[in-house]
Amino acid sequence: MKPARALHLLGLMALVLTFPFAAFAQENTAVIKYRQDVMRSQGAHSAAIKEIITSKLPYGDQIAAHAKSLADTANMIAEIFPEGTDKGKTDAMPAIWNDMAKFKAGAEALNKAATKLVQVVSSGDMKAIDTQYKAVGKACGDCHKSFRKDKKDSYKEMK
Ligand code: HEC
Repeated sequence: MKPARALHLLGLMALVLTFPFAAFAQENTAVIKYRQDVMRSQGAHSAAIKEIITSKLPYGDQIAAHAKSLADTANMIAEIFPEGTDKGKTDAMPAIWNDMAKFKAGAEALNKAATKLVQVVSSGDMKAIDTQYKAVGKACGDCHKSFRKDKKDSYKEMK
């Protein structure tokens, strides 16, 4: 085989070999960004509920919609942590893939707590609403404790 042709073949092989990995890495990056956006939306709905409660805002009837969004997005969690998305700009801990059952249980716990919050809101009892809101917050915290990196180790601290 002529050297030029061999080189050409080598180049082609390198391309064929690396392309799927490059595409894979790109998709993972997009998945990670997407799930962080979903998580941030949970952060915003959660903060909105807290503001209504602590500042006694006249939007008590809007808590149900925020809680419903939390319940709906909780259902997404199990799907948006596919295998292989533990690298790059992510705070997801490998523990997620070592104990997927516990991770999924954490997402279900959030769905339950948020669904209950929707029901409690209809009672109009602010004290009960506050108590159930704290139960929602506990579901977030419980999962983060086991499955999300500490703030100091966060990708957000990487320069
Ligand atoms: C079942 C586990 C689980 C539950 C439940 C959960 N989270 Fe998370 N959350 C994570 C993981 C894992 C990450 C890290 C994701 C990443 O960086 O790829 C995260 C990241 C976040 C982030 C940071 C997103 C970013 O990168 O900017 C916020 C904000 C957040 N969660 C808020 C919440 C709130 C609020 C709740 C409850 C209403 C909640 N989470 C419930 C697992 C969970």
